[in-house]
Amino acid sequence: SGNRTFTMLKPDAIENGHMGKIIDMIIQAGFSIKAMKLTRLTEEQAKKFYEVHAERPFYGELVEYMTSGPIVAAILEKDNAVADFRALIGATDPAEAAEGTIRKYYAESKGRNAVHGSDSDENAAIESKFHFADSEIF
Ligand code: CMP
Repeated sequence: SGNRTFTMLKPDAIENGHMGKIIDMIIQAGFSIKAMKLTRLTEEQAKKFYEVHAERPFYGELVEYMTSGPIVAAILEKDNAVADFRALIGATDPAEAAEGTIRKYYAESKGRNAVHGSDSDENAAIESKFHFADSEIF
């Protein structure tokens, strides 16, 4: 047991065939998968999910990219889940991501950066609810 975070394997990761390798890295790092699905965000869902970035210049591009193909959404559990998962994924910009991180191996760019990780326990709960019903969480 422990606490929880929310992740999405983004469209570039699925498109590039990295889904299995990324899931394996997540499990090997000690996270347990409490919920997981292959899905695709609607424009409305992507806009809402990234609402905090609405005023950023890359918002339109971000919404377009996140709706461009299927994603894998998942809820992960581990002690210190939010911070440990952000350490595992690495910096937003793959050029700045540390060795051994998911983004170092698999991100293409700052925008197409393979994976999402919640930035707080509060957002992890909100984002998890956004994607999963209680009956889908194990
Ligand atoms: P993430 O940090 O998971 O959530 C916000 C996302 O916005 C980020 O991943 C990137 O996918 C995207 N993003 C952040 N900065 C830029 C940028 N400068 N250009 C394009 N997309 C960006």
